[in-house]
Amino acid sequence: MSNKLQGKVAIVSGGASGIGEATARLFAEHGASMVIIVDIQDDLGCKIAESIGHRCSYVHCDVADEEQVRSMVQATVEKFGHVDIMFSNAGIMSRQDQTVLDLDFPSFDRLFNVNVRGMASCVKHAARAMVEGRVRGSIVCTASVGASHGMGKSTDYCMSKHAVLGLMRSASVQLGVHGIRVNCVSPNGMATPLTCKASGKEMAELQKAYEKFARLRGVVLKAEHVAKAVLFLASDDSEFVTGHDLVVDGSFVPP
Ligand SMILES: NC(=O)c1ccc[n+]([C@@H]2O[C@H](COP(=O)([O-])OP(=O)(O)OC[C@H]3O[C@@H](n4cnc5c(N)ncnc54)[C@H](O)[C@@H]3O)[C@@H](O)[C@H]2O)c1
Repeated sequence: MSNKLQGKVAIVSGGASGIGEATARLFAEHGASMVIIVDIQDDLGCKIAESIGHRCSYVHCDVADEEQVRSMVQATVEKFGHVDIMFSNAGIMSRQDQTVLDLDFPSFDRLFNVNVRGMASCVKHAARAMVEGRVRGSIVCTASVGASHGMGKSTDYCMSKHAVLGLMRSASVQLGVHGIRVNCVSPNGMATPLTCKASGKEMAELQKAYEKFARLRGVVLKAEHVAKAVLFLASDDSEFVTGHDLVVDGSFVPP
């Protein structure tokens, strides 16, 4: 295994589960000097950090609360000197059955608080730390195939992921002058605790259900595939890539 992240300090939001967990593990395997898992699932987050080892720690932080994000980033800089990588990945789904005809605004607001405001908060405070520390850092946000296509349902989720692309594109334009790169990773639908909970389906059943959304056969999309794409965007392998949405979708078939 090559050490693509030797000496780097990385923050992974939503790192206690699914894509975030797989990415935190891969970052540590690639020599990151510290991986900070940021989440609201404290028991799980501590357990995952412990299983990754001494170069990983867990911090409780609700990304929807800007003050918690600000102080988490500040504490990271005070403890480890700098922030090189922000993987802003925490996200939620609300009622999957919502078309535009029956949008439920209380759940819309809760979702936007995490998926849009939380995403922007993580980008803002990581970018500030990078600018202040003169770090040529990399910021990666998790969008979705739903960021570039309409969806049959989950209207609020689809809208929130379109907003993530707008955030990434604006931030990449604004932060390039500081040497900071900002990109997105956009996975196709896959079975993770998020989608299992939202659909009420088990992992195997859900994996099967997602098959129809990809033309590629012979491989089932897993969190580890997305983690490899994030590693590319986080590391110097993508040194001249910014403002890009890297789809991990096996050739998406829109609904
Ligand atoms: N699974 C999919 O099909 C899929 C497809 C495309 C994009 N995504 C996106 O990938 C990202 C990760 O999703 P996943 O499938 O790994 O889900 P997951 O539920 O396994 O992981 C998401 C993590 O985010 C954490 N989280 C939720 N709200 C938070 C908050 N307010 N503050 C801090 N942490 C919070 C959760 O506790 C959880 O650990 C999300 O942004 C999701 O929208 C998922």
